[in-house]
Amino acid sequence: MAIREIIKHPARVLEQPCDEVIHFDRKLAKLLDDLHDTMVASEGIGIAAPQIGESVRVAVVDLGEGDDIIEMVNPVVTAIGGKEIEVEGCLSFPGLYGEVERPFFVRIEAQERDGSLYELEAEDYEARAILHEIDHLNGILFDSKIIRVVDPSEFEEYDEQEVNGEGDAK
Ligand code: CO
Repeated sequence: MAIREIIKHPARVLEQPCDEVIHFDRKLAKLLDDLHDTMVASEGIGIAAPQIGESVRVAVVDLGEGDDIIEMVNPVVTAIGGKEIEVEGCLSFPGLYGEVERPFFVRIEAQERDGSLYELEAEDYEARAILHEIDHLNGILFDSKIIRVVDPSEFEEYDEQEVNGEGDAK
């Protein structure tokens, strides 16, 4: 377990499709542990392997709040539904936040660290985080999907509104 350096945009490793995982070994387990440690240390809710310089189809999502850690190896989107516009950020783009339209619902098929297949359905911000990370595995970065840049001061207001139950953004 280790906290790794986060690769910031621009970097070639962030903009190329990642390789499929073939070996479900200790190296993969360590990569997943390192991803989670690095994400938690950076207060992120998701991180993908290319963000720590490893061009493989591995990502982690953890919204906190007592939710389970989602470990995705070779994830594939099998269904989407609905649409929602919300504010997003990315650990590889410090200080950049913007509104991005994504499906409200997603179903994925992926593998666990031991190689077993699983299916997962998610909605709302969890679906958004999963889709953001899968984009990373395809070399797609969220800045290309931003429809409106949100100033961090505005973002803080969003947060306050959410605390007051008036808003719906993160
Ligand atoms: Co990101």
